[in-house]
Amino acid sequence: MSKWIDICAVTDLQADSGVCALVDGKQVAIFYMPKNNAIYAIDNYDPFGKVHVLSRGLIGDIKGEPMVSSPLYKQHFSLKTGQCFEDETVKNDIYAIRIENDRVEISTEG
Ligand code: FES
Repeated sequence: MSKWIDICAVTDLQADSGVCALVDGKQVAIFYMPKNNAIYAIDNYDPFGKVHVLSRGLIGDIKGEPMVSSPLYKQHFSLKTGQCFEDETVKNDIYAIRIENDRVEISTEG
């Protein structure tokens, strides 16, 4: 059973942009696309630049797959799987995230 952790209010999120949250000691980048009713959570760490910056990346999609591009070296990561589009050996952790009663909740367990 997953443990849901309350993060913030939906109104604390920025539409079509990223925010960073500290969850269980991990930095998580949260992206909210209200038009698509979509919300994603991915490890904030950029494995190429070796800094926590993905929450400041630009979002979009590649062939229909929602993604964030690193603000540093511009690698793209799938927001659904964490997979890097440019390097198949690199995959970021992603987390289950949901909106319940206008609160944002994350689960860091499987
Ligand atoms: S602590 Fe949030 S981006 Fe660095």
